[in-house]
Amino acid sequence: MSSNSFHHLLFCSLLLLIISPSISQTISFRPKALVLQVTKDSATHQYYTHITQRTPPVQVKVAIDLGGEFLWVDCEKGFNSSTKKPVPCRSAQCNLAKSKACSTNGNPSEDVCGEFPHNPFISTSTSGDLSQDIIYIQSTNGSRPGKVVSVPKFIFTCAPTFLLKGLTSGAVGVAGLGRNKIALPSLFSAAFSFPKKMAVCLSSTNGVVFFGNGPYELSSGIDVSKSLTYTPLILNPVNLIGGFQGESSSEYFIGVKSIKVDGKPVSVNSSLLSFDVDGNGGTKISTVDPYTTLETSIYNTVVNAFVNALAVRNVHKVAAVAPFSACFNAKDIGLSRAGPIVPPIEFVLQSEKVVWRVTGANSMVRVSNEVLCLGFVDGGPLHFVDWGIKFTPTAIVIGGRQIEDNLLQFDLATSRLGFSSSLLSRQLSCSNFKFNRSTVD
Ligand SMILES: *[C@@H]1O[C@H](CO)[C@@H](O)[C@H](O)[C@H]1NC(C)=O
Ligand SMILES: *[C@@H]1O[C@H](CO)[C@@H](O)[C@H](O)[C@H]1NC(C)=O
Ligand SMILES: *[C@@H]1O[C@H](CO)[C@@H](O)[C@H](O)[C@H]1NC(C)=O
Ligand SMILES: *[C@@H]1O[C@H](CO)[C@@H](O)[C@H](O)[C@H]1NC(C)=O
Repeated sequence: MSSNSFHHLLFCSLLLLIISPSISQTISFRPKALVLQVTKDSATHQYYTHITQRTPPVQVKVAIDLGGEFLWVDCEKGFNSSTKKPVPCRSAQCNLAKSKACSTNGNPSEDVCGEFPHNPFISTSTSGDLSQDIIYIQSTNGSRPGKVVSVPKFIFTCAPTFLLKGLTSGAVGVAGLGRNKIALPSLFSAAFSFPKKMAVCLSSTNGVVFFGNGPYELSSGIDVSKSLTYTPLILNPVNLIGGFQGESSSEYFIGVKSIKVDGKPVSVNSSLLSFDVDGNGGTKISTVDPYTTLETSIYNTVVNAFVNALAVRNVHKVAAVAPFSACFNAKDIGLSRAGPIVPPIEFVLQSEKVVWRVTGANSMVRVSNEVLCLGFVDGGPLHFVDWGIKFTPTAIVIGGRQIEDNLLQFDLATSRLGFSSSLLSRQLSCSNFKFNRSTVD
């Protein structure tokens, strides 16, 4: 290489270095991940967030449904937007929704793709128009929130006002975080071409949902995405909330093979742990159920084993406090940073080595100064799917209290769940994410 061309090369690299910041300014900003702050309403135990939607933009409160199929909001009352448009039948968006419904007034140019918005808190569905409007959301680099970005034609469903019944006060809809194509994780990853992943980290106060890949830093420099255990996500071929015929479930199921209490297996009717032809049975994760719900026979064996394990530790059982049946004298139970010291309840997954361990911080609920209860509830026997009636088609529903301060990463592309177990023992919490924007971006 002549010294001339070397200098030329050097000059070019320097030039690139100098101009590259301005290049990145002119190319429109593409986020690697997005972030939502989630709050728990102590009255209803619902988790909710705020989304900014419409033109002019308004910030609206929506409840979170981990297994929900899409975002729906009340369009009947107080919805003003110059950018809202109905999604036509037979359009690409209508196909994405896998909708088989079309509402028509006889004029084909005004046909609207139909959907069934579902309120999981009152187990009610109705029909609504699939729609699109601009949505705004905060980006993140995994440790701090960054620029607000927008998705111009974000798909959601318009619902009538009555569907808001039972939602946390002020909420105008439900944000579905499920595994199907028009739920938030898929729509966001499609809009910004980032991996189809979502991480959920809830707490009894403020939690966080990330869309996209890690890092997920809950404390400076500590990336929780680096220390997860993985298990396959299982598709339930039956949509248990109704919807269109032949549609699979948007909820997140995992393969629990057995259950251990205090390190010892309890006897469980294993046919309850897999799906029957109607999609009943199995194990799902839910933010709708505030506590883990077990089918009656499983509930009884787990609770008995737990009570016996505490009895040998001289922990006294006291009167039940609804909805719990196993309550104890709090004075008999020691406390650690990771919550009350009680025997673990373990969900054994694809192998004996892959275990979801529920420890004191997640298993015990303080109902008063004197009383701690096992925060699991009896879901009754398995029922068949029945429209409009509260049913328990799933044998094990791992509920909100049991996933608080655990980071769960849902990888929709590879269909696997990464889970952290309680972060409290590592002096981390899901309320640690720093939502304050730093002064430099
Ligand atoms: C929506 O627009 C109508 C008509 O412009 C107005 O009367 C109403 O107050 C607006 N509602 C909201 C919630 O902004
Ligand atoms: C196990 O559960 C299945 C499904 O509910 C039921 O049909 C069967 O009778 C149960 N077996 C036992 C031994 O209880
Ligand atoms: C974050 O911002 C809020 C209000 O914007 C403020 O009250 C709080 O002190 C800030 N926290 C930190 C750690 O800067
Ligand atoms: C994210 O950006 C902030 C500045 O806004 C910076 O301090 C921090 O180191 C960045 N974190 C990562 C993981 O890139």
